[in-house]
Amino acid sequence: MTAATPDPRGPLCIVYNAGELVVGPVDDTADTAPADDARTDGPLEIREDAAFAAINGEVVAVGPTDEITRAYPPDNAATAIDADGNAVVPGFVDPHTHALFAGDRSDEFAAKVRGRSYQEILAEGGGILRTVRAVHDASDDDLLANLRSHLDVMLAHGTTTVEVKSGYGLEAETELRLLETIDRAAAKHPITLVPTFMGAHAVPADTDTEDYVDRVISDQLPAVADQGIAEFCDVFCEADVFDVDQSQRVLKAGAAAGLTPKIHAEEFTRLGGAQLAAELEAASADHLLHATAEDVAALVEAAVVPVLLPGTAFGLGAAYADARAFLEAGASVALATDFNPNCHVRTMEFVQTLAVMKMDLTPAEALLAATRNAALAIDRDDGTGTLREGAPADAAVLAAPSYVHLAYRFDTTAIETVVKNGREVGT
Ligand code: NIG
Ligand code: FE
Repeated sequence: MTAATPDPRGPLCIVYNAGELVVGPVDDTADTAPADDARTDGPLEIREDAAFAAINGEVVAVGPTDEITRAYPPDNAATAIDADGNAVVPGFVDPHTHALFAGDRSDEFAAKVRGRSYQEILAEGGGILRTVRAVHDASDDDLLANLRSHLDVMLAHGTTTVEVKSGYGLEAETELRLLETIDRAAAKHPITLVPTFMGAHAVPADTDTEDYVDRVISDQLPAVADQGIAEFCDVFCEADVFDVDQSQRVLKAGAAAGLTPKIHAEEFTRLGGAQLAAELEAASADHLLHATAEDVAALVEAAVVPVLLPGTAFGLGAAYADARAFLEAGASVALATDFNPNCHVRTMEFVQTLAVMKMDLTPAEALLAATRNAALAIDRDDGTGTLREGAPADAAVLAAPSYVHLAYRFDTTAIETVVKNGREVGT
């Protein structure tokens, strides 16, 4: 075998012979007619017998395999992947996780299936507060190792961008430590990490909620802003946690410190978090199991992305969010895992299965929700979650002929290999 001649345009990546290549959402705004080899499948644009080329980690061309391989010969590419007739899709974006934690709460799962509620467990000092104690006792290196092991699983299942929240510290020093750990993981792991500060995740034991909100605002937030790692500020707006006024205070102070608002809204009760998200023009409102028609309308009007988390409903045995109401109202519905010790799901494939089976999304709607719409939920409107020219070259190559296998298979992964920033990162 002769060594490849490096392409003078920069490190070249080519993925070719895709039986179907999911490009992204149908582009209604394009002033040129769709390419001859393009077809639409619900909200998705798909090319057949297709390829994409990327230079320096950015997609530069998408089209028929023969054209693309002529312009960008695989022999010259640092990364050349023959998809062998299988499907190629944009890498998944997981826009809501609590993936950085320590300890084990599997016994709570066992208690929940025997009838204990999430809120009862939390009120007794379990749940989030128990993870907070485990995080306090864990070393930085242990926390980092935990996070990296979860990210490895996510990457192997096709996820190339992940939002990670702090929120198991509940005081400044540990919240900063968590954000620092996310930053350290980001420096070493192929996945793009998006850090969110969530000091308002729970109220510490024996603490008055108003006093704690004051501390989040006057103690934690300035330190987090100084540290300069977090991009978003999130709050658990819920009965017996933070009410709408308290959530508003935290999110407004976060915005003043440069952090874009996000909110856990209407998860167990309908409290008004969705309306607050609309008022503050949050990037996203998440959970929404109990959102009303007025909430749906307000979020669509304010262009707040609804992030639906069917894994959480599945794990809690709760009713699912009304995804169809959001879609019918014109929302860019996103999906996420919500991976946390209460919801042990790391794969966006299983989340797509749940979205199709339990929330009545089509496989195409679920894939769009797990890619481009999920990118919108974390303010990545740069092509992330698509394979259009100019987008980051993040893709998953399937061991199956159609993207439908992502939702259809719910035993093992349908992903054969993963490309991140134009490099093969394997499975
Ligand atoms: O999104 N609702 C608040 N936070 C998480 C649960 C975190 C935990 O239980 O540790 C959620 O479901
Ligand atoms: Fe959450």
